[in-house]
Amino acid sequence: MSTSEKAGLPEDYVTGIEEIDRQHGNLIDLVGEARRTLHSDSSPARLGAVIRELLSYSIYHFETEERLMRQYGYAQAQPEDAELHIRQHRSFSQQVAKLQEEAAAHRQVDTTELIRFLLEWIDRHIRQTDRKLAGFILAERKP
Ligand SMILES: [Fe+2]
Repeated sequence: MSTSEKAGLPEDYVTGIEEIDRQHGNLIDLVGEARRTLHSDSSPARLGAVIRELLSYSIYHFETEERLMRQYGYAQAQPEDAELHIRQHRSFSQQVAKLQEEAAAHRQVDTTELIRFLLEWIDRHIRQTDRKLAGFILAERKP
């Protein structure tokens, strides 16, 4: 896998928006950390803490992207893309919040499935949805 020198991200993850790329790097690191942690301890308490951290960083990251959308008038220029993008953020947060509730209720959560879900969602969302937003922002930034 070739990576970008700067963000340490796979090449097709690089959006060209520095703030977004940095946060994506952090998010992927966090998932890797979660995988290692859960490998040695998948108790409900540990799982709850891991999911809470992931959810909190994801929400922070989504807020960054949605602030950039507002700043550049994405919803006005590309209403369908903006709507789909925000819908994907909400759906992700809801799914992770649901897992958090399951962990809190001490119900069985398949941690391998959880990590796979996170990595697949991030992969699809960055390569399709975030790169589309980034392309728009970069075009707007051109003098
Ligand atoms: Fe996004």
